[in-house]
Amino acid sequence: MSTVYVITGVSKGIGFELVKQLSQEPKNTVIGLVRDKTGTDKKVAAELGKRPNLHIVRGDLESYESLKEAAAETESILGNDKGVDYLVANAAYMVDEEAYVGIDHFRDRPSDIDRLAHKSNQTNVVGNIHLFQLFLPLVQKSSTKKVIAISTGMADLDLINEIDITYGAMYSASKAALNIIVAKFAAQYKNEGVLFFSMSPGLVDTGKTDGIPPEAQEALGKFAQGLLTYAPDFRGPITPEQSVKHMKDVWTKASVQDGWSGKFVSHYGNKKWV
Ligand SMILES: NC(=O)c1ccc[n+]([C@@H]2O[C@H](COP(=O)([O-])OP(=O)(O)OC[C@H]3O[C@@H](n4cnc5c(N)ncnc54)[C@H](OP(=O)(O)O)[C@@H]3O)[C@@H](O)[C@H]2O)c1
Repeated sequence: MSTVYVITGVSKGIGFELVKQLSQEPKNTVIGLVRDKTGTDKKVAAELGKRPNLHIVRGDLESYESLKEAAAETESILGNDKGVDYLVANAAYMVDEEAYVGIDHFRDRPSDIDRLAHKSNQTNVVGNIHLFQLFLPLVQKSSTKKVIAISTGMADLDLINEIDITYGAMYSASKAALNIIVAKFAAQYKNEGVLFFSMSPGLVDTGKTDGIPPEAQEALGKFAQGLLTYAPDFRGPITPEQSVKHMKDVWTKASVQDGWSGKFVSHYGNKKWV
């Protein structure tokens, strides 16, 4: 079966692994949205070689116009007959500045709070609302009709409370808000067979902890200890390859009929985050 995928944020990390695995099947059409098209075209040519079924298109979550152009370009790549089977909202602003510091770090920094909260909400929430609105007509044209937002277990209240995660407040809050937006779209469109749901990719090694300073390493160690208490079988981050395999299994089986509409699940399809 030929399947059409549109994925945001494919320049690196999980997004790049998604386009790598999905475009391995020549019958699939894979459209990857990026901010830096020239750089990503080069990376694709160097690491994946020639893949005529993989199209890199410019699309910035902070620019409605660029997403509108990306939707128009996607339509012209697909032609009149095809729609988008899977829209995967993977791109995100990760807020490196708060990755390993608690909410108390910002006590005397109101302008940092304003700046980081604004950027994370603009990119991770508002940008994805625009993305969903603009690509929905193409999703509605397909037979599969699935929209998956890549969220994070860091936005799960039970996990935060169970192991006291103080880090990543603005990022986590923006992903929690994204989960709500996804549930709203899900409620709106499930009756016409469009499935919207949110999924965490797991804790994935995408190179972010390489070369971090000692205080961040200490914070990371505490976080890992917490995760071990939460999940005694936790053995550290998984690879992008493993994460994508899990996520594909989940989104293949997920359906409106089986009650997946609006859910927020892990890469295992449940609430086990690591
Ligand atoms: N890695 C993990 O452990 C983990 C855990 C939980 C959830 N997640 C989620 O998984 C997804 C991928 O994470 P990752 O680890 O692969 O991150 P990553 O390596 O930092 O990749 C993030 C991607 O998002 C793109 N992006 C950032 N801002 C953008 C914008 N304004 N418009 C369009 N694209 C933008 C980046 O493009 P540029 O190259 O242009 O910056 C990049 O392609 C994210 O949604 C993240 O929240 C990851």
